[in-house]
Amino acid sequence: MDLKKMVGIEAAKSVQTGMIVGLGTGSTAFYMVEEVGRRIKEENLKIVGVTTSKKTEAQAIELGIPLKSIDEVPYVDLTIDGADEISSDFHGIKGGGAALLFEKIVASYSKEIIWIVDASKMVKQLGKFPLPVEVVPYGSQQLLRLFEEKEMHPVLRKNLTNDKTLVTDGGHYIIDLHLDSIPDPLALGTWLDSTVGVVEHGLFLSMVNKVIVGYNDGPKILEVK
Ligand code: 5RP
Repeated sequence: MDLKKMVGIEAAKSVQTGMIVGLGTGSTAFYMVEEVGRRIKEENLKIVGVTTSKKTEAQAIELGIPLKSIDEVPYVDLTIDGADEISSDFHGIKGGGAALLFEKIVASYSKEIIWIVDASKMVKQLGKFPLPVEVVPYGSQQLLRLFEEKEMHPVLRKNLTNDKTLVTDGGHYIIDLHLDSIPDPLALGTWLDSTVGVVEHGLFLSMVNKVIVGYNDGPKILEVK
């Protein structure tokens, strides 16, 4: 079975009736959302979903998953989402699918967070995957210059389908920093947090409770202490 599908289905087992569930974004989260939809139809599972992107929202509506916005719920019981890289100390990079802002907002109000990845996403140190930084369009060229000066190798993200600048669900741009390695994610995250014009960044530090990793011989569940 496809590793992304395997971990998506495995993670959906943690969803229980009565829960408010954060539904992540991306090609791995896609399978989890499909499985939650199947369980609603076939197993009478009763949940409320909170989506992290317009794309996941469209999928969830299609599947008949009842939805509320993050502002309509007091908290989220469990969020299941993908990730682009996870370090050996369980920090993560997210935002490859451009949904990092809404994903981080939903994650911030979640009691439990599960990340689902195939084994290739598990790394010793973060940084080979370009770090997405969501920025306000106004002044974004200045930010590109700033990141360039700091030798962070910034690239303004474009749509895959045309040459236009990608605009996120929140109406912002994404600058990908090609850093190669991030020896101190906390320091970098703190600096980005304090940089004017940066809305959010893809460093998800000390946020995850459980990681489900897909291997060819089955899923492995890693509990984060
Ligand atoms: C979207 C994300 C995704 O969860 C991340 O990019 C992983 O995606 P995929 O499962 O398609 O590899 O952070 O913003």
